[in-house]
Amino acid sequence: MIPTDGFQIPQKFIVAAILSACFVMTLSIPAFAAGKKIILDTDPGSDDAMALMLALNSPELDVRAVTVVPGNVTAKQGLENALRMISLANRCDIPVAAGAQHPLFQKLITAEFWHGKNGLANIELPPSKCKVDSRWGPDLIIELVHAAPHEITLVPVGPLTNIALAVEKDPSIIPLVKEVIIMGGSITGGNSTAAAEANIYNDPEAAQIVFHAGWPLTMVGLDVGDKTLLSPKYLEQLGQMHGPVNDFIYQVAHYLIDLSAKFGSSGTPMYDPLAVGVAIDATLVKAPPMHVDVETRGEFTRGETVANRHNMVERNVLHGDRYMVEGVDKVEPNAKVCVEVDADRFLQLFVSRIRGK
Ligand code: BDR
Ligand code: CA
Repeated sequence: MIPTDGFQIPQKFIVAAILSACFVMTLSIPAFAAGKKIILDTDPGSDDAMALMLALNSPELDVRAVTVVPGNVTAKQGLENALRMISLANRCDIPVAAGAQHPLFQKLITAEFWHGKNGLANIELPPSKCKVDSRWGPDLIIELVHAAPHEITLVPVGPLTNIALAVEKDPSIIPLVKEVIIMGGSITGGNSTAAAEANIYNDPEAAQIVFHAGWPLTMVGLDVGDKTLLSPKYLEQLGQMHGPVNDFIYQVAHYLIDLSAKFGSSGTPMYDPLAVGVAIDATLVKAPPMHVDVETRGEFTRGETVANRHNMVERNVLHGDRYMVEGVDKVEPNAKVCVEVDADRFLQLFVSRIRGK
């Protein structure tokens, strides 16, 4: 008991008062302060733009940095786009860093054909008020992971060049990264080629390094992205409200929906935003564990993510002039591969986070 003037307050009331005060304080902390810390590695990119704005407007996430990788557009254009978008969202507090200038072992393949000449659906955003961070993207990733061990989730939504460079330069980050959620790959055919998805096809060697690093990794590939179509119905909902981010995303989505219609699709696949969606809420997808290798040599299959669904291979033993199957060997899963998605729930989440912003 704590003595007071003339009477005593029972200890249980004091404890209850302290607990209530703590509860009120917790509620009043801005939600982003308690969010999952992520680094978005991106090649912006029109669906990258939607992913970034979803991340910035989701209280579950705390975007610690945006690192830029070449892919949909050149590294220079991607950096300019990232800065303009961060500025539009009024988030100059988030470091935006340039990274790799080209894939590890092949020429860059850019995709203005799909994303518009400037990569942002030909929408001219105002010049950025934010300045580029002076650190090199992979170095920034390394620094932030060491500064917050076991807390950072990497969300790469472009080719995996920057992530591979960070791992190669400082493998000690591997056990310190909380999780890696990748937009890339497919176990049911590609979009760049019959076999390969674009982000993996644009740097297969980097992808092989990242898949085999030994950290918890979730692959959000075409298998689920193609089921997550933003249709005119959702566009209309975005069009009902206004704000700088809302209006920008409305125009991006409009451009992509029109483009998809030319290819006979009822909406635009939300590839990159879905990876952010999985970072927000992993229950949006079903993702069984599988062993995934990246094909780096195949004539028709370079860049394919080859997934072992049963996590076992036959053991073939040489007997004279032939091999005989003598059993099976287990292979360890290295990825959770998204195979199902609650598309409507995700699309509603996306629209609700962007509307009016
Ligand atoms: C991926 O490739 C890029 O065009 C998109 O931004 C997305 O990251 C889809 O294959
Ligand atoms: Ca992308």
